Amino acid sequence: MKQRTLTILKPDTVARRNCGAVISRLEQEGFEILAGRMLRLSEEQAMAFYAVHKDKPFYRPLVEFMTSGPVWPMALERDNAIEHLRKVMGATDPAKAAPGTIRQQFATSIERNAIHGSDSPENARIELSFFFSAAELA
Ligand code: CDP
Ligand code: MG
Repeated sequence: MKQRTLTILKPDTVARRNCGAVISRLEQEGFEILAGRMLRLSEEQAMAFYAVHKDKPFYRPLVEFMTSGPVWPMALERDNAIEHLRKVMGATDPAKAAPGTIRQQFATSIERNAIHGSDSPENARIELSFFFSAAELA
């Protein structure tokens, strides 16, 4: 069944000019790009997006990283999109990411790990509406 998920090309991917390669990989995986727009997150926005991690030691540096340069959020659609994106992304830590995954290929650290993907249907809904209006996703 078709499902939607949110991805974000993180600041490291934009800075290292890997956007084209990552988007190409996502298209090859059968994802349709429904919406997308490059933008710079404010500190407040980054804090809100990652609020679930607010008590973790990596929260503050993560917010700094995510606001350090432009990001490129996209709404993606595919069968089983949420689970499939997580599989194609690979593990959070690129040292543990499976061969051929985006993070194994493009991430440079557990923090600078190239790409975000929603982790559940509930979070996909919340995260899609964080960046995109209903009209943009219609
Ligand atoms: O992105 P993912 O769902 O795989 O991981 P997470 O546990 O939800 O963490 C969110 C983001 O925080 C990661 O993608 C990393 O950028 C960062 N992080 C970090 O800097 N250090 C960690 N030990 C764990 C996560
Ligand atoms: Mg997560």
